Amino acid sequence: MTAPAFVLRAPRADDVLAYCGFLADPDVHVWLEDRCQRPLSLPEVQAFVLGPAWCRWAIECDGAFVGLTGLEDYDATRATARFFIVIGDRTRWNLGLGEAVIRRVLEHGFNGLGLRKIVSDFMAPNHGSRLIHQRAGFLVEGCARQDSWRQGQWVDRIYVAMFKDQFDAGGAS
Ligand SMILES: CC(C)(COP(=O)(O)OP(=O)(O)OC[C@H]1O[C@@H](n2cnc3c(N)ncnc32)[C@H](O)[C@@H]1OP(=O)(O)O)[C@@H](O)C(=O)NCCC(=O)NCCS
Repeated sequence: MTAPAFVLRAPRADDVLAYCGFLADPDVHVWLEDRCQRPLSLPEVQAFVLGPAWCRWAIECDGAFVGLTGLEDYDATRATARFFIVIGDRTRWNLGLGEAVIRRVLEHGFNGLGLRKIVSDFMAPNHGSRLIHQRAGFLVEGCARQDSWRQGQWVDRIYVAMFKDQFDAGGAS
């Protein structure tokens, strides 16, 4: 499958309302953080999209803003950061976009920003997220059991990571 073409660009003010719509969709927010499980105010969403961030990009397909990705929680001493991705336009799911975006962010994180290790996490029932991390070469580091309450039950959170030398050796191929 050929992934849809996309560009990563700086987020803009006109992305904020679209992101409000994305986060209002239960299918989009269900596996995000607890703070996204209730309606968010405009300033809160503005902070997600435009607030201070180490490395945050808008994902754009066919000229349309479809989500956010990037690297946060940068630790200069350990040369680590945490990957995140939200594709809010559900018509773009399951086409290979998430996998293509994660690979591009890894490439930039390791070879552009000089990271040594990129970490990430996802809730165990989030199969799409699990698959894109696996396919990019992330390996499981641990599991926080019964970490978050979703859909009437406690669900596990899986912690994963990838190292630059693993990426260079083709771990993400
Ligand atoms: C998770 C997310 C980034 C995946 O993006 P995507 O563009 O759909 O990812 P891809 O198309 O590259 O890969 C997804 C894979 O998971 C599969 N998948 C998705 N839902 C699935 C399910 N419920 N059961 C089994 N497989 C599933 C898809 O079929 C696809 O596999 P395939 O290529 O073999 O068909 C996107 O769904 C998203 O942003 N969701 C909302 C926010 C979110 O959960 N972010 C991650 C938080 S950790």
